[in-house]
Amino acid sequence: MQALKGFKDILPDEALLWQRVEAVARDVFRRFGFEEIKVPILEKTGLFARSIGEATDIVEKEMYTFSDRNGESLTMRPEGTAPVLRAFIEHALHLRRPINRLFTVGPMFRHERPQKGRLRQFHQLSVEALGSDHPRLDAEVIAMARQILVELGLSAALQLNSLGCPACRPAYRQKLIAFLGGHREQLCEDCQRRTESNPLRVLDCKSDNCRRLNAAAPAILDSLCPSCAEHLAAVRRDLDALQIPYSLNPFMVRGLDYYTRTTFELLTDALGAQSAVGAGGRYDGLVRQLGGPDLPGIGFALGMERLVLLLQEQNALPSSGPDLFLACLGEVAGAYGFKLLDRCRLAGLSALMDVQGRGLKSQMKQADRLNARFVLIIGEAELASGQAVLRNLVSKEERQIPLAAELTDLLRVVRAD
Ligand code: HAM
Repeated sequence: MQALKGFKDILPDEALLWQRVEAVARDVFRRFGFEEIKVPILEKTGLFARSIGEATDIVEKEMYTFSDRNGESLTMRPEGTAPVLRAFIEHALHLRRPINRLFTVGPMFRHERPQKGRLRQFHQLSVEALGSDHPRLDAEVIAMARQILVELGLSAALQLNSLGCPACRPAYRQKLIAFLGGHREQLCEDCQRRTESNPLRVLDCKSDNCRRLNAAAPAILDSLCPSCAEHLAAVRRDLDALQIPYSLNPFMVRGLDYYTRTTFELLTDALGAQSAVGAGGRYDGLVRQLGGPDLPGIGFALGMERLVLLLQEQNALPSSGPDLFLACLGEVAGAYGFKLLDRCRLAGLSALMDVQGRGLKSQMKQADRLNARFVLIIGEAELASGQAVLRNLVSKEERQIPLAAELTDLLRVVRAD
């Protein structure tokens, strides 16, 4: 039996990197005042169709949708924003705080063509800040996304755009349709269809011809209404104040229809075709569109697989071994070691000992294979003298350690290295 295509097991060595990514992100979320929300993986299909948009790739062809036993159409969440907003509305969280800063961590599902950095089950660190349309919140959220990368030791280029609002986007859309209509024969088949249904998506097409044409298309930044233009200018001022570098990309469109005004992507060239480590933007009409109060919001999601891949490319593999391996020789030393093992663990060390009754040589091999940092060797002579050899398996240094009840020396040495 094998895992499904695009669905991946995360084995223990790699799981360590996942833990690190999540721990760093959670710490940044805490410092920025974000609270965790956990939402279900399964939702009614209509939630995603209404929020992400009927004419998007996700809704048109990538969702895992099925009828359950009652004949209801359900979908495995392709992203986190719609479920979090559904919960926000259902539990009237706006009454709890004027601004809700929420994050959720977990798997998402899209039936895409799997490749490096693109899976059918993938994981996001997904963030939503609901209740304010102040541009400072945009800058804050962008700064937080970037801070997670910085603290993981990763870098990505920030691109920024504004997709306007219901006051200015329709006019831009018409301008774009007129431009695309005038060059219909140069567009790929998909884009010929998209010209009417979702013309902004054409700007994101990867085919050579469309790309060439798109470079000459009208730019949305030239069509923003005064209030969207000022909003973008204010976001830029705050990013500058925090010395966060970015470039404007007026042709950045997102694969989800709910965005208004600020959109952004964090891009890397280290992952081949899948260059977005994270992306997000503002969605000021979405809460109301889903039946909630008229509250604005902004958020982003970072792709955890992509963060882990980047860490792997940097060879940032944390050591996966225990702090200490107890090599015990004989029954009496084994019984003593078992109690010592327990005390080491209670004192906070990760510690292991042999449970197969092996000899010294194979216990040492086992310690090596486990990638243990230290080995403490205990036989009858050690028990009699109350001293044992502690070997650092990295530096090969050895020292005598008293086997006193408090383990003071042992803990000091193992913790210090
Ligand atoms: P998204 O751009 O669709 O936005 O996805 C965000 C990130 O999830 C991407 O930049 C990428 O790192 C990762 N990702 C997406 N699809 C895959 C995949 N098939 N395999 C691996 N990683 C993937 C959203 O999902 C929005 N909900 C973000 C957001 C939150 N906007 C506002 N709030």
